[in-house]
Amino acid sequence: MKGLLMTIKVCAFDAYGTLFDLSSAARIALKDYDKKTGGNYSRTVAENWRLKQLQYTWIRAITGEHADFWTITCESLDWSLEKSNLHNDTELRTRLLDLYRELEVYPEVPKVLAELHTLPIPAVILSNGSPQMLKSAVEASHIGKYLEDLLSVEEVGIFKPSPKVYELVLKRYNCLPEEVLFISSNGWDAAAAKGFGFLTAWANRANDPIDRFPWTPDFILSSLIKVPGLVKRV
Ligand code: LAC
Repeated sequence: MKGLLMTIKVCAFDAYGTLFDLSSAARIALKDYDKKTGGNYSRTVAENWRLKQLQYTWIRAITGEHADFWTITCESLDWSLEKSNLHNDTELRTRLLDLYRELEVYPEVPKVLAELHTLPIPAVILSNGSPQMLKSAVEASHIGKYLEDLLSVEEVGIFKPSPKVYELVLKRYNCLPEEVLFISSNGWDAAAAKGFGFLTAWANRANDPIDRFPWTPDFILSSLIKVPGLVKRV
C-alpha cells in the first residue's frame, strides 16, 4: 500500500491484550501458588477471566444491558476464581483486581508509541475500558505522554464491536473510517473494525488462526513493533 502517511489521520489502539498484557495480573498474583501446588493456576485463571470478560461484553452489548468494564471485569474474575475453586480467597481477588488496574504493557509498547509520537499523526486508545481503568493503567505504565486521547466505550454505553464505538474516533477527529489505522490483538476486534471501514492491523500475538468473518484485516503482525514502519511506508 502506498502513501499511507498521506491518508492516515489517526492511529487508534485497542488497549487490553494489545498494549496491556492481560496475563500479567494472574502471573504475578498466582506465581507462588503455582510453585506451591505444581499447578498452572496463573494461566487457567487468566484465560478463563478473559474468556468470560469478553463473553459478558458481547452479551451485554447484544441485550442492551450495559454495565461498565470494571463491573464486567470483577464479575468475570469471580467466575474464573470459582471455576478454579479459589473463590474463598478474598485477598487473592483483591490483589488480582489491584494488579489489573496497573497491568504491565508488552515490552515493545513504549518504544513503538515513542516512535509514533515523532510523526504528525495522533495515537489514541479506543477501548472497552472505563475511563478510570484506562487512566490508571496508562499512568502506571507511563505511556500517557504518547497518547492524545483515551477513548472509552462509556461515551456511548455499549461495548465493541458496536459501530457506535468505532464512530467515536471519527467524531473526535472529524475523519473518514479509511483514514484511521486501528490496531488490535483481538482478532474479532480487528475484523469488526475492518467491517466498519477502518484500515486495520491485527497484532496476532498468540499466532492464532484467522477468525472466520467476512472481513479480513489489512495487515497481520506478530507484535506492534512494525506499526511505525507501516505508518511511515510511502
Ligand atoms: C479493549 C478490549 C477489547 O481494550 O481488549 O477494548
